Amino acid sequence: MLSPVDLSLSTILLLLLLISPPLSSRAQSPLPSRSPDEPPTVCIIGSGIGGSSVAHFLRHYSSNPFSIRIFERHGVVGGRMAMVNVSGETFEAGASILHPKNFHAVNYTKLLDLKIKKPSSSESFSLGIWDGKTFVFKTLKGGCKVPFVDKIVSLANSVLMFVRYGFSLLRMESFVESTVDGFLKYYESTESRPVFETVDEMLKWAGLYNLTTRTLQEELIDAGLSPLLLQELVTVITRINYGQSVFISGLAGAVSLAGSGGGLWAIEGGNWQMAAGLISHSDAALHLHEEIESISYLGERYELNSTEGNSYKCEVAVVATPLDELNIQFNPQISIPERKLQHTHATFVRGLLNPAYFGLNAVSEIPELVGTIEDPDLPFSSISVLKQRDEKDATYKIFSRKRMEDTLLDSIFSVRQETIRINWGAYPHYKAPEVFAPFILDGQHLYYVNAFENAASAMETSAVAAENIARLIVSRFFSQEPLISSNLTSDSDGEPVHVDL
Ligand SMILES: Cc1cc2nc3c(=O)[nH]c(=O)nc-3n(C[C@H](O)[C@H](O)[C@H](O)COP(=O)(O)OP(=O)(O)OC[C@H]3O[C@@H](n4cnc5c(N)ncnc54)[C@H](O)[C@@H]3O)c2cc1C
Ligand SMILES: *[C@@H]1O[C@H](CO)[C@@H](O)[C@H](O)[C@H]1NC(C)=O
Ligand SMILES: *[C@@H]1O[C@H](CO)[C@@H](O)[C@H](O)[C@H]1NC(C)=O
Ligand SMILES: *[C@@H]1O[C@H](CO)[C@@H](O)[C@H](O)[C@H]1NC(C)=O
Ligand SMILES: *[C@@H]1O[C@H](CO)[C@@H](O)[C@H](O)[C@H]1NC(C)=O
Ligand SMILES: *[C@@H]1O[C@H](CO)[C@@H](O)[C@H](O)[C@H]1NC(C)=O
Repeated sequence: MLSPVDLSLSTILLLLLLISPPLSSRAQSPLPSRSPDEPPTVCIIGSGIGGSSVAHFLRHYSSNPFSIRIFERHGVVGGRMAMVNVSGETFEAGASILHPKNFHAVNYTKLLDLKIKKPSSSESFSLGIWDGKTFVFKTLKGGCKVPFVDKIVSLANSVLMFVRYGFSLLRMESFVESTVDGFLKYYESTESRPVFETVDEMLKWAGLYNLTTRTLQEELIDAGLSPLLLQELVTVITRINYGQSVFISGLAGAVSLAGSGGGLWAIEGGNWQMAAGLISHSDAALHLHEEIESISYLGERYELNSTEGNSYKCEVAVVATPLDELNIQFNPQISIPERKLQHTHATFVRGLLNPAYFGLNAVSEIPELVGTIEDPDLPFSSISVLKQRDEKDATYKIFSRKRMEDTLLDSIFSVRQETIRINWGAYPHYKAPEVFAPFILDGQHLYYVNAFENAASAMETSAVAAENIARLIVSRFFSQEPLISSNLTSDSDGEPVHVDL
């Protein structure tokens, strides 16, 4: 499941939201049946960036009267955008960084009047690539108070990178750039951009589909990258961003590499505020602590039953969460291709690393970001400094594929004052070729935003998928504007592997 498994609730920020009280209270008494002139209801399951974006774009694209309900099983909105509280200070526990070309997120920030936070002191943090015995590559440490010195350090680091990886670095950059350019098509005007009924169509239209049929390794070898760059830097990045190797698809790989470039940003105070703001801005009734257990099609309407014993009737139902580890009962049954989630264990430690673990003499010699190569014996994917209080006191974030046991942590750290563990059902376990679930689950008005997630999982990709789902609903349900449909449509019965839910 997506929920943090062994996370202590008291340490996670309980950022309860004050959202449209009149609507919320009306939500407590589900209406028995709709009279002919009562506006229809769209029910959204999940309050992450996906669900909140569907609500936002529905309001944006439709001027029809309709109500929106959003169901969230947890007591906070945001889903995988969540904060963790480490000795009184909060840090992003899940999705942390945005790309400068994540234009929906950029617009949300403006619309909701949120503040942008740039990562501290440019790109001059030090990176080390750890192979279990030694640092095979290390950059210089910046963070100097004098900006000029910082610039020199960052320049020197570029030189160091170039010496080790050569022109392959430029080839990698151009691979990422051309993928980002394809992705930018999803921001084109709705006059020239079709509404997509399937993920396959959506990816083909932007020229991104082929990248999901081959591994990142295959794509990068064809692009002329050296094996050393693949084994080291590229692997370090895919392990940090997706907890996986270069055998992920080329598209997930490109998104992952884009998330390691310059100009990255975040929302001051937490990315979850995008979801909170969009929900409130779209005047949706938010049902916190309400988990949907079953979705039944009654003809013209869906009946959603929750763990609270409530039953809601909706003309349109939107699933905005990965279905892979859930057991929502669908009547009639739906079938989607099997997909596994990659679990990433995020461990937050306040304390001090032990230089001896890395064969070093002083903590100051340990890079601020320790990345790792692909080796089954390595117990973690990355360790990064989130905050340095002084030489003997810092807060770190560790990503690993398995739980970090105390004995292991005791060897990596010399001091450990506080430890918080979160087990995320983080993102799909990528493979090539990818097979996609349908956006329209039942041929009627049951939609699935996270069908797009095995193209690539990120806040922005969820928003892009959500925008398309909102347009699909407007064109198929409200059918106001005659929208162009790109008729590549294959019916979902043609899909090979299926899992019944
Ligand atoms: C450790 C980690 C690091 C990441 N780093 C980045 C990053 O730096 N940048 C980036 O862009 N992306 C990152 N991602 C990916 C990003 O978090 C996701 O792609 C994105 O947040 C998904 O949003 P979503 O709305 O589709 O799903 P979610 O955020 O998972 O939202 C789904 C919501 O549905 C709720 N729910 C589930 N079932 C039910 C039910 N039956 N009834 C009611 N509610 C239900 C869940 O509680 C959840 O709140 C990271 C993810 C992880 C785990
Ligand atoms: C973090 O948790 C501590 C102790 O549980 C609490 O006192 C503090 O207010 C929390 N900090 C924030 C910013 O929520
Ligand atoms: C962002 O907002 C601006 C101004 O409202 C708009 O022109 C632009 O199309 C929006 N971008 C996206 C990606 O929606
Ligand atoms: C994708 O692959 C197919 C089959 O190999 C090829 O015909 C097509 O031209 C490719 N499309 C793009 C955009 O590269
Ligand atoms: C949902 O709840 C309603 C009302 O309590 C009930 O009649 C119906 O059988 C329930 N549906 C499912 C699938 O449990
Ligand atoms: C698109 O598909 C629909 C249904 O399959 C069909 O009725 C319609 O004529 C098609 N439109 C075009 C432009 O091919």
